Amino acid sequence: MDTKIVILDVNNIAQDTINEAGLVVKEGGLVAFPTETVYGLGANALDKTAVEKIFKAKGRPQDNPLIVHVANRNIETLVKEVPNIAKEIMSKYWPGPITLIFNKSNLIPSTTSAGLDTVGIHMPSSVIARKLIEAAGTPIAAPSANISGRPSPTEVESCIEDLSGKIEYILGGEKSQIGIESTIVDCTCTPPCILRPGAITIEMLREIDNNIYIDKNVMSKPKKDFKPKAPGMKYRHYAPKAPVKIICGDIEKTIAKINEIVQTNMGNKKIGIIATDETKDKYPFGTVVSLGNRKQLETVGRNLFEVLRSFDAIDVDLILSEAFEEKGLGYAIMNRLKKSAGFDITYV
Ligand code: TXA
Ligand code: MG
Repeated sequence: MDTKIVILDVNNIAQDTINEAGLVVKEGGLVAFPTETVYGLGANALDKTAVEKIFKAKGRPQDNPLIVHVANRNIETLVKEVPNIAKEIMSKYWPGPITLIFNKSNLIPSTTSAGLDTVGIHMPSSVIARKLIEAAGTPIAAPSANISGRPSPTEVESCIEDLSGKIEYILGGEKSQIGIESTIVDCTCTPPCILRPGAITIEMLREIDNNIYIDKNVMSKPKKDFKPKAPGMKYRHYAPKAPVKIICGDIEKTIAKINEIVQTNMGNKKIGIIATDETKDKYPFGTVVSLGNRKQLETVGRNLFEVLRSFDAIDVDLILSEAFEEKGLGYAIMNRLKKSAGFDITYV
């Protein structure tokens, strides 16, 4: 299939292009598009046949439901009810990087929800995303626009790498501002429960309801017959081709440990190191990439997935990563890093 690729100027968004991509969605095709979290691979959320194509293009397991994207807060027809707590979260954090889970209405096909009675809804703050949804005239179902298992794309080049030739349209825009997928909060239970951490942190959500909590499975290695509330949590995720190992603890000890592992393996392995601006000059060997300033977690989050993907291009055999404090945005960053490492962590 020929994929049309158009890169929009975010300061002067061409409505013609938006309309063209919107029409592709309307007619049952697939469009990759930017959001503030990561790029999404979109189809008409209400069209079962269109949604099936997403699973095929990504190689996505059939039991993993899709998030539905909307351009405004009028979601009454998509869900059975909007609990008061969800209304509060929506008024404070929508549009923005948070997905809320509701009991779904019959309008949402079971292919979109992967057989669940619930649906996750995200109103993106990305203007291009909202304009596309408006032009399509329908909510858009969209997982991250990567081949299943790979780190999510936050730049159009990564969408092109994974999906060119497999979908009708790739809409480019700016690099995703957040760089980590949306926080997912299950609002079908009381109190609501965080199923995936993101840029809207537990600390921020507890300003609305102090009882909101994080599902206990979020930060642990999935067991064999594990049935998580967010089905996606059981799959290996965000993973570059090479194994990732996280070294966690005091930063000086971390640097020493990473250098020790590099020196022991240097003879037979090409090693990548995920460092930060403060530490990147402390590694004399290996291919060192910085995530940015360690004190600016927003930058670290924004760079994380593209840094993980960059190691695929240079074919390393092993990736060693520094860790971050699991507080605020650091919690979501560590969640993605730990999943990319299959929970291989060495504490120093
Ligand atoms: O930031 C994001 O959420 C991005 C952008 C494109 O919106 N999308 C995204 O989609 O990350 P995806 O498919 O890569 O991850 C969706 C996660 C999966 O783990 C899935 O299992 C979970 O959300 N999920 C979706 N619907 C759900 C539901 N009804 N109940 C529980 N978990 C759900
Ligand atoms: Mg994904």
